[in-house]
Amino acid sequence: MSTTLSIRLKRASKIYHEGEIIVGVVVVESSADVRHEGLALLLEGAAALQLSNKNTGIFDAFSNNLKPINLINTAIELAPAGKIPAGVTEIPFEMPLQARGPPSPGCPGLLETYHGVFVNITYTLKCSMKRSFLNKPLNTTCQFFVQYRPQEAPPLKPVRCEITPATIRAGDAGAGSARNIPPFQVYAEIDSTVCALDKPITGKIRVDSCSARIKSLELQLVRVETVGGAEGYSRDATEIQNIQVGCGDTRRARDLPLHLVLPRLFTCPTTTTVYFKIEFELNIAVIFEDDHLVTENFPILLLRSK
Ligand SMILES: *[C@@H]1O[C@H](CO)[C@@H](O)[C@H](O)[C@H]1NC(C)=O
Ligand SMILES: *[C@@H]1O[C@H](CO)[C@@H](O)[C@H](O)[C@H]1NC(C)=O
Repeated sequence: MSTTLSIRLKRASKIYHEGEIIVGVVVVESSADVRHEGLALLLEGAAALQLSNKNTGIFDAFSNNLKPINLINTAIELAPAGKIPAGVTEIPFEMPLQARGPPSPGCPGLLETYHGVFVNITYTLKCSMKRSFLNKPLNTTCQFFVQYRPQEAPPLKPVRCEITPATIRAGDAGAGSARNIPPFQVYAEIDSTVCALDKPITGKIRVDSCSARIKSLELQLVRVETVGGAEGYSRDATEIQNIQVGCGDTRRARDLPLHLVLPRLFTCPTTTTVYFKIEFELNIAVIFEDDHLVTENFPILLLRSK
């Protein structure tokens, strides 16, 4: 006899807002009648956290995994102990997506789904069929996604800057190497550093002058994840996406458009809780033919907005 369990959500996108009801069915497929000791549905949401090895504080090297932060945890009984007939049986369910209470420092409420490196925020429905004591329970899971309701569009915050050897912070290009950078002047413009997650980030970049040959102009999207608390924390910037804006020795004095579509799941609204922070930055990188790299950094604020 073979029995399989699966969860099917009515909403194809699997994207839900807090306060909505998740509607779906649990499908039991079996070649024969199934006796069971109860069918339960669990909804779990958690932020998994990890310190990097570069952490600042008193953590020892073996305790880099912090306890996950529980965001939501509810359970309902789908069916009491009984028998499910052979064939395909659909058991409908409705599960409210509601945080336990108003957000507080210890319980940040329902945060948006996010897949990072040191922080992951995930939501899962789990269905478990208990069976008589010699049989292991039969389980199945289904991930879904939480998004905030879009807020009003914020005012644009454009930035403009000139990048020259003089504007490059010491250290960026390696100590002492600033002297080796050829004279150059690059103009960059980002239409807004406050960005809606489902709209592209746009701007332009122009090489006004440069005495050396340029190999590449790049726009990088970076996440900055801070994890920890009073005892110590780690903060790491890792690249999410890198777009080549100009390839080869870019023609001087010509505007090149910047256009970056924020990848789903790997970005979320800029988030600050007592346990962790998720922030985002853009880097504009000029790579010279000798592989020398200079970058200019722009912190950005991501929002779920109209
Ligand atoms: C988050 O997910 C990524 C990819 O699945 C994984 O590499 C990373 O270790 C996870 N981090 C945490 C803190 O769970
Ligand atoms: C199935 O789910 C139950 C309840 O969540 C859990 O206790 C059990 O360990 C799970 N079993 C397997 C095989 O994953």
